[in-house]
Order: sequence, then C-alpha cells, then structure tokens
Amino acid sequence: MSQPNKSSLTEERIFKPSKDFSKKARIKSMAQYKRMHKESIEKPGVFWAKEAKELAWQKKWTKALDWKAPYAKWFVGGKLNVCESCVDQHLTNGRANKAAIIWEGEPGENRTLTYRQLHREVCNFSNVLLAKGIKPKDRVMIYMPMTPEAVIAMLACARIGAVHSVIFGGFSAESIVDRLEDCQAKAIITSDGGYRRGGVVPLKKNVDDALKKYKAVETVIVHQRIGKEGAPVKMKRGRDVWWHEEAAQVSSKHEAKAFDSEHPLFILYTSGSTGKPKGILHTCGGYLTGTYATCKYIFDMQDDDVYWCTADVGWITGHSYITYGPLANGVTQVMYEGAPNFPDFGRFWDLVEKYGVTIFYTAPTAIRAFIKAGDHFPESRDLSSLRLLGTVGEPINPEAWMWYHRKIGGERCPIVDTWWQTETGAIMISPLPGCTPTTPGTATLPFFGVDAAILDETGQEVGPNEGGKLVIRKPWPSMLRTIYGDKKRYRDTYWNDYAGIYTAGDGARRDKKGNFWITGRLDDVLNVSGHRLGTAEVESALVSHKVVAESAVVGRPHEIKGQGVVAFVTVKAGVKTSDAMAKELRNHVGHVIGAIAKPDEIYFTPALPKTRSGKIMRRLLKELVATGKVSGNITTLEDHKVIADLQAQLKK
Ligand code: WTA
Repeated sequence: MSQPNKSSLTEERIFKPSKDFSKKARIKSMAQYKRMHKESIEKPGVFWAKEAKELAWQKKWTKALDWKAPYAKWFVGGKLNVCESCVDQHLTNGRANKAAIIWEGEPGENRTLTYRQLHREVCNFSNVLLAKGIKPKDRVMIYMPMTPEAVIAMLACARIGAVHSVIFGGFSAESIVDRLEDCQAKAIITSDGGYRRGGVVPLKKNVDDALKKYKAVETVIVHQRIGKEGAPVKMKRGRDVWWHEEAAQVSSKHEAKAFDSEHPLFILYTSGSTGKPKGILHTCGGYLTGTYATCKYIFDMQDDDVYWCTADVGWITGHSYITYGPLANGVTQVMYEGAPNFPDFGRFWDLVEKYGVTIFYTAPTAIRAFIKAGDHFPESRDLSSLRLLGTVGEPINPEAWMWYHRKIGGERCPIVDTWWQTETGAIMISPLPGCTPTTPGTATLPFFGVDAAILDETGQEVGPNEGGKLVIRKPWPSMLRTIYGDKKRYRDTYWNDYAGIYTAGDGARRDKKGNFWITGRLDDVLNVSGHRLGTAEVESALVSHKVVAESAVVGRPHEIKGQGVVAFVTVKAGVKTSDAMAKELRNHVGHVIGAIAKPDEIYFTPALPKTRSGKIMRRLLKELVATGKVSGNITTLEDHKVIADLQAQLKK
C-alpha cells in the first residue's frame, strides 16, 4: 500500500525529545536503548523474565522460553491469573482508591471506577459467569459498546479461565454467525445497545439475528446500557438474562485461581487473504508480559499519568492498550463510548481538557479527519496536559504527523508511531519517547526483544532503502500461538516464507539509520481507517447477492481512510445495472460484514480482466483505480478490451 497523501516532505526532519522529557523517562538515552536492545536480543529469556517478574504470579516458571518453531511456550510451568496483575494487586500497592477508568458516554454522562470498585465489579461478574456454568477454556463472545462493562466482561472471563472473543460492535449479525461457528461459543455478553453518533446501535437485536442461524449458545447476558425506552429488546426465556439481575444474586467476592502461563486468554478475529477471518489465539503469561512492558517503556506510563487510547475494545489495540497493558501498569485511563465527531470534531479535545489527559493514543485516519474538520477545534481547547502522543494501525503520512505534532502536541510532545499487529499482541517497532529521534512517517526502531529485519525473496537481508518483507526472526512473549482450530493455516500464513521466521505480511524498508518505514500490506488485505479488511471477504459478500456473478475488490488511496474500497462487479445474464443497484450492493456488503466494508465505489463490468488461465489480474485493477491507466506487462491478459472499457468508465 502506498502512503496516503504521498508527501512532499523529505525524511530528513528529525525531532528529539526535550531534555526535560528524557530526564524523567524510563529510557533516557539512545546508548541505554542500544545496550538494552542488544542484551534483549542476545538473551531474550533473561530480558523478558525480568519484565514478567513485575507481574503477579502464583507459581514461578521453570523455563522462560520453550521454542519449537513455529510454536513458542513462554514462562513454562508458571501459573498466574491475568486479572490479579490487572486488578487485585492494586488493592495492596497503594492504588486501591486510584481511578482505574474514567468513562464518558457519548451523550455526556460520566462514571469513574477506582481499582477497588473495578475489582468488586469483576469479581461479581465472574460469579455471574460461574453461575451460568462457564468453565475454563469455554469460549465467550463479547459484543458490546465502549462501556466499562466491556472491560469488566473481558477481565471476568480471564479471571475464571474462560476464553473471550470480542467482536467489534460495528460488525453485522452475519459476521457474528461466522465467528460463533468458528469458536463454538457457549455464551454471549452483549448490551441492549450503544450510543454512536447520536443514534443507538441495536447490539442485542444483532445477536438475536445471529442466533437464528447459530443455535448452540446457551446463555446471553445483556447489560442494560440504554434502557427500555431507547432500545427495546426481546429476552428469550431460558437463554437471555439481564446483567444487573444476575449480578444482584451472586456475591462480589471471588478468589482468583491461577492458570498455566500458556492457558488461552482470548481469540480475536482478524482479516486474512481468504474470505474466512482468522481466529488469532493469545495466551496468558506471555501476552500480559508483552503488553505490560510495552506500556511501561513506550507510553512511559507513570503513576500520575492520565492515559487515553481511542481504540475500540473490539480491536487488538483495545485489548492490549485499554484492557490488559494499562491496567497491569495501574494507570488511570479515560474511556469514551462514542464517535470523535459527536456532537462535533471538538469532542476528543474536550475530553483531553476535561480529564487532563497526558498520554493520547489514536489512529492516523482520525488525525486526517481532524485536519479536514479544521484547526479551530483543537485550538479552542486547552491541550497543555498532554505530554506524549501515539499512533497505530497504518502508516502515518508526514503531513498528518506534522499536524499532530503542532496542533495537538504543541511541538512539545514526542510522537510514538507504533507498528504491530493482532498477531504480535503488543507493539513491535516504535520510538521510545525519551530517547529515539523521530522522523515523520517512520515507526523507527524495534522494541526490546524484537529481532525485526527486512528480507528479500531468497531470505537475504536487503540493503538500506531497499524494499522487502518485514519479518521477526526470534519468538517474543506476546506472539500469537496459533490460529484457533487451524494449525495448518497458522504455519502456512506466517512461517512458510523462511524457516523458523515470522513473516508479518507487510512490506518495509530501512533507512541508513536503521529506521523502519512500513509501506503496507503485501497480501490482499486492505487497511481501511486503520482496520484490516480482506478483499476476499468483500468479494464473497458481493457474490452472495443474487444478481452478482463475479467480483474483484481492490484498494485505492483515500484521503481520510488511508485506503478506500473499490469493487468491480459482473452481474448475472439478463440483470440490468443501475445506480440503485450499486447502492443496494453497498448496503448488502454492510449487512453481511459491517459498515466498514461498504465499497466506496462500484463499477459494473461485463467481464473482469483475467489471465488466460482464468486468474483475475488484481494488479491491473489496482493500478487502474490509482492512476486511471494501466502500464506494465499485460501480455497475459486474455481480453484487452475489458481494460479499455473500464478505463473509459473510470474517466466518467
Ligand atoms: C498496519 C493493529 C504502518 C500494518 C495494531 C499491519 C501499521 C496491520 C502500523 C495490522 C504503523 C499497524 N505503521 N502500518 N504504525 N500499525 N499497521 O492487526 O499493515 O489491526 O500489518 O493491528 O496494520 O493491523 P491490526
């Protein structure tokens, strides 16, 4: 993927943290970073064991790492309850009455949960789950808005050893069905609805629709977020129960039992290059160690920080950098339910001002939307509490970086551009804010214990500024353990290019200083507003409509979203195409996957460009939508007229 808004800025600009920032930061100099990084690569077990020791373990491990490529076990023999590190330990380390979560709903109400209150809620809900017969390793799906209860639900699952699978609230009923079938969930935790852009998202209704197709769910626990007036729900007797009614019947005391370090913690579905999402499996000890350590060093979390990550808990960023990492660090965090532009584009900055946010973590797509909305929104708020900014999810174009630096960071806050993936569990490449010189557009250098490199097809490391495949050569604690129920796909997707080496699926280059510049996905995965979307998923959604014979989906650079979705569609014989039909197909994709996947543009074509052996030539379509032309080799194209026709259509 090319960078959106390809920049005129050169990569020479260098920004260094202020002396004051460095002095107080955990890692204060490049010499310190380099020494620690070298040691961590030479002896990863030693480095990570030191980090893991700062967490709560009921039984210490006997071996830090057991690596039989591509399967890693971390902290072998160790036993812990993830929830103890995130919640219980803070009851005795002086943080009991410290705010854990300061939550604001979209309509404007707010609620603060101290660590003690969070503990009580999590224990209480753990007992609800136990009363419903949920056992260790049972899968529990969570489909909720951004409320503290979403975090409580995740932590309660972890506490009793159940495996949560959070589905983003923007996904449709059909997407829920696919995921339920894949992980065979026994229970679902949802809400009557959630507020988004002034409206109510009917979460429980979507669950009901999904459960018409997948019937093995025994229990649906419904949190009342909206209330009967705003979100009337139907409760099915014997299956559906209200969170508050169940909670009232059980105790708020619960002793955390330890689980094996490699006990499964969660499954999170993400897009791959086939139509079927992959259930990425993470386990307890290693994942918690990775998210804990990255929060500590990359966000430089200190006891008086007010941290805010704007992601949704439905994505990995919400798992690692809302629920697990920050709470294990005992930080105070802000959580916000709604849209950045409700009631207008000043909302985020209102929250920063109101709660005195010091560390702010968001996505480049949001930054671009703010740029477009106008500088007066941030300029009219007091953002002086901020000390550190972060971005995640996609390459950040230098203009967006500079705007973030100037308008939000007041030219004083370091920016950490963090590269990582659902699969890596935690940040892998990022500046350390107290020492790394940053340049707009690069995620800079690997984190401790991360042996990142860029390889060519033959497995050789490429030279400076040469493009290649981004890989990680050594195992790390928060790495995925497998794709749930599909070991073969796990091996084929990540470990097939080079023996024993993890292939990320991203292209990258390194400059002379060793900084990593991520250029985007190398597979058929798009990055729309920082969210992964498989072109094959959108294609299969289109083909599931009765009029569609065939389709090809590609990405094109998009000013705000990074990448937009463009679909080429061939309809069945005798079907008439029209604008109304294009609209219907867009909505159909929204219905099958979720609004995120709706194509920005649909082109009808009597045929798709194919090779003589019948393979769709996506390369040509990509080029066509990006430039309006097709250059390069088209000798293998079966019917040249198809391209000429499409070119004419795109011109119009
Ligand atoms: C992309 C999100 C450039 C990348 C945490 C990766 C990035 C995919 C960055 C993972 C970044 C994420 N710079 N590209 N700082 N961060 N990506 O699984 O293509 O939703 O492979 O995890 O996002 O997306 P995922």
